Amino acid sequence: MTMANITMVTYFILKGILDIPELQVLFFLLVLLTYLITLGGNTTILLLVWLDSHLHTPMYFFLCNLSVLNLCSTTVTLHKVFVMFVTGDNVVYYTDCMAQVFLFSWFSSNEFLLLTAMSYDRYVAICRSLHYSNLMKSRVCAALAIFCWSFGLLQTLPVMAILWQVSCYTSNIIKHVFCDTVLLMNLSCSDTSTLELLILIEGALLSTFTPFLLTFISYYFIITTIMRIKSSTGRSKAFYTCSSHLAVVTLLYASIVCQYLIPSNTFKSKKLFSLLNTALVPMLNPFIYSLKNKDVKSAVQRKLKSFTIIIGREVIFGVVGRT
Ligand SMILES: *[C@@H]1O[C@H](CO)[C@@H](O)[C@H](O)[C@H]1NC(C)=O
Repeated sequence: MTMANITMVTYFILKGILDIPELQVLFFLLVLLTYLITLGGNTTILLLVWLDSHLHTPMYFFLCNLSVLNLCSTTVTLHKVFVMFVTGDNVVYYTDCMAQVFLFSWFSSNEFLLLTAMSYDRYVAICRSLHYSNLMKSRVCAALAIFCWSFGLLQTLPVMAILWQVSCYTSNIIKHVFCDTVLLMNLSCSDTSTLELLILIEGALLSTFTPFLLTFISYYFIITTIMRIKSSTGRSKAFYTCSSHLAVVTLLYASIVCQYLIPSNTFKSKKLFSLLNTALVPMLNPFIYSLKNKDVKSAVQRKLKSFTIIIGREVIFGVVGRT
């Protein structure tokens, strides 16, 4: 590609992360596997909560929100990998690229917000347990969820507005599998200092650090409350109710910290890692929530049991009907 500035970019070319063609198939298969597991895990959570009335609690409603979010964000980021592999078409039109940047930033900031809402739910459940049903009424939960989705949306708008106005690019080749704010900013040949500042304020401060602080404060109160419980069974029981959420939160923030710890001169591994983050976290969430969780496990057992009863009945009646 020429180094001349392109003032009218109508499309970008996604070059992928790996230059080694031998690894393309392996890369594709890995992404496909991750995507299928994400799809399976998150739809299972959605179905379980929808079908099992024991799981109709604020925590599981928020978990459903998280599953919907995980499904959307992985589809938005990874779908082009499949298109590129199957059809070889690695062109993304400018508007599609912008749409991808927009949805990806919205969903990422939403994830932090939803996990913060969930940590508030855990705070109320443990520190204000007597008033739990009063404080976490379904209307309050719905309002919290709506706030998360709309505040996440609101946060991404300024960055999008500025990115939209960038008209001059040094190249239209993106060495990644999806469009991303930082990648586009690096390609831009106009002054990006406002954008950088906005990304810092919006991306780091508002959508990552503030949720982290709020979650941290919730857990501070949760842990001090748990420590004050006299009986050890009571203590472990209380801790148990927030362990899944704590694990998911830790996974998310740890992956963010790791991403920043990788030095930026190893740009390729940084990109691989960011892809890993966007693909792995949504895949692991449903498993973390269900593996050590008695509620989810017994819901699975109940559903499997009723399912086998239905199948059994079908088989028996089918056999009886035929004879
Ligand atoms: C999201 O959470 C809210 C509040 O608990 C709930 O009313 C809503 O049904 C959830 N949405 C989905 C798609 O799970």
